[in-house]
Amino acid sequence: MNTTRIDQLFVPTYKRDGASLTHGKGSFLFDADGASYLDFGCGIAVNSLGHGHPALQKALIAQGMRLIHSSNLYFCQPQIELAKLLIKHSFGKRIFFCNSGTEANEAAIKFARKWARKQSSEKYHVLSFTDGFHGRTYGALSATAQEKFHAGFEPLIEGFHHAPFNDIKSVKKLLASHQFAAIFVEPLQGEGGVNSATGEFLAFLRTASDQHECALVFDEIQCGMGRTGTLWAYEQYKVVPDMMTLAKPLGGGLPLGAVVCREDIALSLGTGDHGTTFGGNPVACALGVAVMNIIADKRFLKEVREKGCYLFKKLHALRDNFPAIEAVLGNGLLIGVRMKDDPVAIIKNCRKAGLLLIKANLNTIRFIPPLTVKKTEIDRAVAIFRDVMIKYY
Ligand SMILES: Cc1ncc(COP(=O)(O)O)c(C=O)c1O
Repeated sequence: MNTTRIDQLFVPTYKRDGASLTHGKGSFLFDADGASYLDFGCGIAVNSLGHGHPALQKALIAQGMRLIHSSNLYFCQPQIELAKLLIKHSFGKRIFFCNSGTEANEAAIKFARKWARKQSSEKYHVLSFTDGFHGRTYGALSATAQEKFHAGFEPLIEGFHHAPFNDIKSVKKLLASHQFAAIFVEPLQGEGGVNSATGEFLAFLRTASDQHECALVFDEIQCGMGRTGTLWAYEQYKVVPDMMTLAKPLGGGLPLGAVVCREDIALSLGTGDHGTTFGGNPVACALGVAVMNIIADKRFLKEVREKGCYLFKKLHALRDNFPAIEAVLGNGLLIGVRMKDDPVAIIKNCRKAGLLLIKANLNTIRFIPPLTVKKTEIDRAVAIFRDVMIKYY
C-alpha cells in the first residue's frame, strides 16, 4: 500500500514522516526500507532505556506468561511492587495508576477538587501556565494553556485559569480573585519549547499553595524519571509538590500513568470516586518495576547528568557558527535548540540523514535521547545535526 492509501486508514490527527519502523536496538531504530536512525526523540520521551533493553524484555516475557490482565477488582503483585518503589523514592504516600499522562492529570484534577471541596464548594478553580502541556482530554486540555490545542474544541471546562509561566505577579493577582483547588506546573516544559521554571517561581508556588490551601501538582510526565539527571525534577528545586503526575517512560513503552499523592489528598477519595479498567496493568507495571530499578540508581543518574552536560555543551558550541540558533535550553537529557525560524525542514533532513528529533512549540528542536545513550552516539547525533545545518544555513 502506498503512503496515501495508508493515511486513508486513520483519522488524520497525525502527520507521519518516513517509512514504517520495524525494530530497535539500543539508541537505534530501523525501518522497513533497511534504514537506521539514531533515536533522539525516544518515542516522545518514552523509551528511556532505549530499544530492546534486556531487563524490559525479561520482565515483559515473565509477566506476559504469568498474567496479562486482572482488573482493579483485585491486587496484583507488579502493581504493589511498583507502588512501593514510587513511594520509597519520592515524597508520595499513595499511588493511583492509570494508562497515560492525560489520564494522570485528569485524576489529579479530580483528586484536588474532591480534597478542596471539603473546605468550600467554591474551591474548584485550577491554575496552570502558558506553554504548559497537560494532555488532550477536557480537564487536561483546559489546563493546557496553548490556544492551538483548544481551537475548535471550545467551550473548555469552567474554572480553569492560565497565567504567564514564571510570572509571580500574575499568579498573585489570580489567587486573590478565585478559590483554587490546584496549581499545575511542569518544572521543565517539554512540548511548550523546553522552558525551565525558575527556582524563585516554584518556591513561590509552594508558599502560595500553602497559604491558599490548594494542591501544588507537578506534571513530571516528560521531565521526571531521571530525564533531568535526578529521579524527579523537583529534587533540583528543593520544592516538594503535593501531587506529581507521571507517565511516558514509566511503563517502559507500555501505556502506564500514575498520580503520586500526599496521604490526606488520597484519603479524600473513596471507593468508586475514580477508576479505570486497564490502569496499573500487570505487564505495564512489571516493566515499570524494571525501569525504576535501573533509573533510580545514583550512578545511573550521575551518568545522565554527565551526558546531559556533554550534549548541552556540544550543541551550545554550534551557536557561534549558526546565527539561526537563538538559544540552547534545557536540563539533563531534555535539551532544546531554539531556532529563529520554524525548524521543520531541519528535523526532516536530520531524519533523512539518520537522526530522529522532535519539534517543540513553534521553533524549538528537542533532543531527547534514551538515558542509556552513549557519548559516541551523542557525537554522531551532533555531527549529523551540524552537517544538516551547514547544508541549509
Ligand atoms: C508534560 C506532559 N503532560 C502530559 C502529557 C500527556 O501525556 P499522554 O500523551 O500520555 O496523554 C504530555 C505528553 O506529551 C506531557 O509532555
